[in-house]
Amino acid sequence: MRRVITYGTYDLLHYGHIELLRRAKQYGDYLIVALSTDEFNKLKNKKSYYNYEQRKMMLESIRYVDLVIPENGWEQKTEDVKNYNVDTFLMGHDWEGEFDFLKDECEVIYLKRTEGISTTQIKKELYGTD
Ligand code: CTP
Repeated sequence: MRRVITYGTYDLLHYGHIELLRRAKQYGDYLIVALSTDEFNKLKNKKSYYNYEQRKMMLESIRYVDLVIPENGWEQKTEDVKNYNVDTFLMGHDWEGEFDFLKDECEVIYLKRTEGISTTQIKKELYGTD
Protein backbone atom coordinates (compact mmCIF):
# COMPACT_ATOMS: atom_id res chain seq x y z
CA MET A 1 0.00 0.00 0.00
CA ARG A 2 1.40 3.40 -1.00
CA ARG A 3 0.95 6.15 1.56
CA VAL A 4 0.84 9.85 0.76
CA ILE A 5 1.00 12.75 3.23
CA THR A 6 0.19 16.42 2.78
CA TYR A 7 -0.06 19.43 5.13
CA GLY A 8 -2.28 22.46 5.45
CA THR A 9 -4.89 24.50 7.28
CA TYR A 10 -7.88 23.78 5.04
CA ASP A 11 -10.03 26.57 6.44
CA LEU A 12 -13.25 27.52 4.59
CA LEU A 13 -12.92 24.39 2.48
CA HIS A 14 -13.03 25.25 -1.24
CA TYR A 15 -12.66 23.55 -4.60
CA GLY A 16 -8.90 24.30 -4.72
CA HIS A 17 -8.54 22.16 -1.58
CA ILE A 18 -10.65 19.34 -2.98
CA GLU A 19 -8.66 19.39 -6.23
CA LEU A 20 -5.40 19.17 -4.27
CA LEU A 21 -6.69 16.21 -2.25
CA ARG A 22 -8.08 14.47 -5.33
CA ARG A 23 -4.76 14.75 -7.14
CA ALA A 24 -2.78 13.79 -4.03
CA LYS A 25 -4.78 10.58 -3.66
CA GLN A 26 -3.80 9.57 -7.19
CA TYR A 27 -0.21 9.15 -5.99
CA GLY A 28 -1.15 6.32 -3.64
CA ASP A 29 -3.80 4.26 -1.86
CA TYR A 30 -3.86 5.97 1.53
CA LEU A 31 -3.91 9.75 1.99
CA ILE A 32 -2.93 11.35 5.29
CA VAL A 33 -3.62 15.04 5.87
CA ALA A 34 -1.61 16.71 8.62
CA LEU A 35 -3.93 19.53 9.63
CA SER A 36 -2.55 22.66 11.28
CA THR A 37 -3.84 23.00 14.82
CA ASP A 38 -5.26 26.30 16.07
CA GLU A 39 -2.14 26.73 18.23
CA PHE A 40 0.19 26.17 15.27
CA ASN A 41 -1.86 28.61 13.18
CA LYS A 42 -1.40 31.21 15.90
CA LEU A 43 2.33 30.68 15.64
CA LYS A 44 2.06 31.31 11.90
CA ASN A 45 0.00 34.47 12.57
CA LYS A 46 -3.04 32.83 11.00
CA LYS A 47 -6.50 32.54 12.52
CA SER A 48 -8.92 30.13 10.93
CA TYR A 49 -12.66 30.70 10.77
CA TYR A 50 -13.37 27.05 11.67
CA ASN A 51 -11.55 25.53 14.62
CA TYR A 52 -9.38 22.43 14.40
CA GLU A 53 -12.14 19.91 15.26
CA GLN A 54 -14.49 21.43 12.70
CA ARG A 55 -11.83 21.48 9.97
CA LYS A 56 -10.86 17.89 10.85
CA MET A 57 -14.46 16.68 10.66
CA MET A 58 -14.92 18.21 7.21
CA LEU A 59 -11.68 16.74 5.87
CA GLU A 60 -12.58 13.30 7.25
CA SER A 61 -15.80 13.37 5.29
CA ILE A 62 -13.94 13.75 1.97
CA ARG A 63 -13.66 10.49 0.08
CA TYR A 64 -9.98 11.03 -0.86
CA VAL A 65 -8.87 11.46 2.76
CA ASP A 66 -8.09 8.38 4.87
CA LEU A 67 -6.59 9.91 7.99
CA VAL A 68 -6.28 13.35 9.56
CA ILE A 69 -3.50 13.96 12.07
CA PRO A 70 -2.55 17.18 13.87
CA GLU A 71 0.24 19.38 12.56
CA ASN A 72 1.63 20.94 15.70
CA GLY A 73 4.78 22.58 14.37
CA TRP A 74 7.38 22.94 11.62
CA GLU A 75 9.65 20.19 12.88
CA GLN A 76 7.48 17.08 12.77
CA LYS A 77 7.67 16.20 9.07
CA THR A 78 10.63 13.81 9.15
CA GLU A 79 9.09 12.03 12.11
CA ASP A 80 5.66 11.79 10.42
CA VAL A 81 7.20 10.32 7.27
CA LYS A 82 8.89 7.63 9.36
CA ASN A 83 6.02 6.94 11.78
CA TYR A 84 3.37 6.62 9.09
CA ASN A 85 5.60 4.78 6.56
CA VAL A 86 5.03 7.53 4.02
CA ASP A 87 6.04 6.88 0.39
CA THR A 88 5.12 10.30 -1.02
CA PHE A 89 5.28 13.71 0.63
CA LEU A 90 3.18 16.17 -1.34
CA MET A 91 2.67 19.94 -1.10
CA GLY A 92 1.37 22.82 -3.20
CA HIS A 93 4.02 24.47 -5.37
CA ASP A 94 4.03 27.54 -3.14
CA TRP A 95 6.43 25.36 -1.09
CA GLU A 96 8.59 24.33 -4.08
CA GLY A 97 12.00 23.12 -2.92
CA GLU A 98 11.32 23.76 0.80
CA PHE A 99 11.03 20.11 1.75
CA ASP A 100 13.59 18.55 -0.57
CA PHE A 101 15.49 17.47 2.55
CA LEU A 102 12.90 14.70 2.89
CA LYS A 103 14.04 13.15 -0.40
CA ASP A 104 16.31 10.74 1.52
CA GLU A 105 13.20 9.31 3.18
CA CYS A 106 10.52 9.40 0.48
CA GLU A 107 9.37 10.85 -2.83
CA VAL A 108 8.73 14.63 -2.59
CA ILE A 109 6.21 16.21 -4.94
CA TYR A 110 4.95 19.78 -5.37
CA LEU A 111 1.64 20.20 -7.19
CA LYS A 112 0.42 23.29 -9.00
CA ARG A 113 -2.28 25.21 -7.15
CA THR A 114 -5.73 25.61 -8.65
CA GLU A 115 -5.85 29.10 -10.05
CA GLY A 116 -8.25 31.80 -8.88
CA ILE A 117 -9.17 30.55 -5.40
CA SER A 118 -7.74 30.67 -1.87
CA THR A 119 -9.08 30.96 1.66
CA THR A 120 -7.45 34.39 1.92
CA GLN A 121 -9.26 35.52 -1.22
CA ILE A 122 -12.63 34.25 0.02
CA LYS A 123 -12.21 36.15 3.29
CA LYS A 124 -11.17 39.32 1.48
CA GLU A 125 -14.12 39.16 -0.87
CA LEU A 126 -16.67 38.39 1.84
CA TYR A 127 -15.46 40.60 4.65
CA GLY A 128 -12.94 42.93 3.04
CA THR A 129 -10.29 41.46 5.38
CA ASP A 130 -8.02 38.42 5.62
N1 CTP B 1 -4.26 24.65 -2.60
C1 CTP B 1 -4.33 24.47 -3.99
N2 CTP B 1 -5.01 25.38 -4.77
C2 CTP B 1 -5.57 26.47 -4.20
C3 CTP B 1 -5.52 26.67 -2.80
C4 CTP B 1 -4.85 25.73 -2.03
O1 CTP B 1 -3.81 23.49 -4.52
N3 CTP B 1 -6.17 27.34 -5.00
C5 CTP B 1 -3.54 23.68 -1.79
C6 CTP B 1 -2.32 24.28 -1.12
O2 CTP B 1 -1.21 24.30 -2.02
C7 CTP B 1 -2.12 23.32 0.02
C8 CTP B 1 -3.55 22.89 0.39
O3 CTP B 1 -4.36 23.25 -0.73
O4 CTP B 1 -1.38 22.20 -0.40
C9 CTP B 1 -4.06 23.56 1.65
O5 CTP B 1 -3.86 24.94 1.48
P1 CTP B 1 -4.21 26.07 2.54
O6 CTP B 1 -3.04 26.96 2.73
O7 CTP B 1 -4.88 25.50 3.71
O8 CTP B 1 -5.33 26.86 1.66
P2 CTP B 1 -5.30 28.27 0.96
O9 CTP B 1 -6.61 28.46 0.26
O10 CTP B 1 -4.04 28.43 0.13
O11 CTP B 1 -5.29 29.22 2.23
P3 CTP B 1 -4.58 30.63 2.48
O12 CTP B 1 -5.19 31.60 1.51
O13 CTP B 1 -4.92 30.94 3.92
O14 CTP B 1 -3.09 30.41 2.26
